[in-house]
Amino acid sequence: MNLLTVLSTTILLSTVNGSSQSDTQTQNDTSHFSQTTKYPLPNVGNVAAHDPNILRHDGAYWLFKGGVHLPMYKASSMSGPWTQLGTVLDGDSIIPKQNSSRPWAPTAIEWNDTFYCFYSISKAGSRDSAIGVATSTTQLDPGSWTDHGALINTGQGNGSDTAPYTDSNAIDPAFIEEQTTGQPFLLYGSYWHGIYLVPLDADLLSVKAPGQPNATTTNLVYQPDGKVKPVEGSFMSYREPYYYLWFSHGKCCGFDNGFPAKGKEYSIRVGRSQDVRGPFVDKDGHQLIDGGGTVVYGSNHGSVYAPGGVGVLSGTDGDSDVLYYHYLNTSIGFKDTDAQLGWNYLKYQDGWPVAHSGDNSTGTSESSGGTVRPSYLLHILAFITWGYLWLPSW
Ligand SMILES: *[C@@H]1O[C@H](CO)[C@@H](O)[C@H](O)[C@H]1NC(C)=O
Ligand SMILES: *[C@@H]1O[C@H](CO)[C@@H](O)[C@H](O)[C@H]1NC(C)=O
Ligand SMILES: *[C@@H]1O[C@H](CO)[C@@H](O)[C@H](O)[C@H]1NC(C)=O
Ligand SMILES: *[C@@H]1O[C@H](CO)[C@@H](O)[C@H](O)[C@H]1NC(C)=O
Ligand SMILES: *[C@@H]1O[C@H](CO)[C@@H](O)[C@H](O)[C@H]1NC(C)=O
Ligand SMILES: *[C@@H]1O[C@H](CO)[C@@H](O)[C@H](O)[C@H]1NC(C)=O
Ligand SMILES: *[C@@H]1O[C@H](CO)[C@@H](O)[C@H](O)[C@H]1NC(C)=O
Repeated sequence: MNLLTVLSTTILLSTVNGSSQSDTQTQNDTSHFSQTTKYPLPNVGNVAAHDPNILRHDGAYWLFKGGVHLPMYKASSMSGPWTQLGTVLDGDSIIPKQNSSRPWAPTAIEWNDTFYCFYSISKAGSRDSAIGVATSTTQLDPGSWTDHGALINTGQGNGSDTAPYTDSNAIDPAFIEEQTTGQPFLLYGSYWHGIYLVPLDADLLSVKAPGQPNATTTNLVYQPDGKVKPVEGSFMSYREPYYYLWFSHGKCCGFDNGFPAKGKEYSIRVGRSQDVRGPFVDKDGHQLIDGGGTVVYGSNHGSVYAPGGVGVLSGTDGDSDVLYYHYLNTSIGFKDTDAQLGWNYLKYQDGWPVAHSGDNSTGTSESSGGTVRPSYLLHILAFITWGYLWLPSW
């Protein structure tokens, strides 16, 4: 999700695997790319977005991504064309740490007639981070948002000396409402002690019982083994009777400096539980808190690399749920800003989500094997139109 530990793991992994540091060589080195056809190709979103977040509202799709002041886009379909509307924040975040002009990994939701945009302020390889929040009470438009600053600090800042903020990284926010009680929760976390669930106050502007966060906060995903603990970018969805906890596992970024061993790059994993507080287990019964996680979507076809930064749109009116994510197209490039929006419908088999190859929930079956290919022209147009916007943002 973030660039956390990218500096260190890039160097470490590329040294370990002897990956090339040269762009020309790495781009040709297809031995790092999984050729599996086990996962379907994505439906292409036709927009560059690292850690995309999508909200469906008023018959349209609204996309939020990390970048200077949090860029937002709108489209009438998941495959675009996406129009950039502007940014969530009018200026820098009021959180006084790291580079406050360039928040990461936003998550936007609607709650009690208010729109909330949670975001992260951090720096690659640092745990000195914060989750901030901005609200808009009228509409989703740029210029309508108020920044309220930090909900959670780790590393430094108010509250950061209290467990579990002492052993976690306040980035990659996500949101879930408990079905039975309506209690709102924030999820956050990356590397270190993994992913946490934190109850929020009803106005979502502060955590519940801020004095003793350890008593109310639940650690949901953790990788006990190994020095590097690459779990981050969580998202929680609900489909009766389960909560699904999604996360990205592996190396997210920096592939223009070399590839990790095949399979160590980002993949999208999941576990489920009937209790929002867990424990979440994967398909093999392995707990997520103990290194578990079923891979739902990974690198495939030699063309899709390191999918992650996941979200799920719950299907309405009989439509299937939509799994969306970013991925690197091995024919486009490996800079973090090259990450593309991709999406698939989900089917559930015995209550376990499976990414589906069809471009539509109706009428297509696994046997179709196809995906909507963007017209090449559309892609070029998208590149020309948005290319300049990709540069300053993740
Ligand atoms: C690698 O790619 C570059 C540029 O795309 C090309 O010039 C070069 O011949 C390729 N090398 C090999 C070994 O394929
Ligand atoms: C903060 O990020 C902005 C946008 O990427 C960049 O222009 C600026 O130089 C950065 N500031 C610092 C202090 O790194
Ligand atoms: C919703 O917001 C209103 C103020 O706009 C507040 O009075 C009310 O308590 C809120 N409801 C919940 C469930 O938080
Ligand atoms: C620090 O956080 C506490 C809650 O943990 C809050 O009550 C207090 O107002 C905050 N102080 C500042 C200066 O933000
Ligand atoms: C925080 O809670 C966890 C699990 O409930 C517990 O293992 C840990 O000791 C607590 N840490 C502190 C500092 O109280
Ligand atoms: C990757 O990019 C190439 C060239 O633009 C395009 O033909 C192909 O369909 C793309 N594949 C995916 C999965 O995005
Ligand atoms: C799926 O198909 C239905 C009926 O043919 C159509 O109304 C809908 O727009 C399609 N959805 C997508 C995402 O193409």
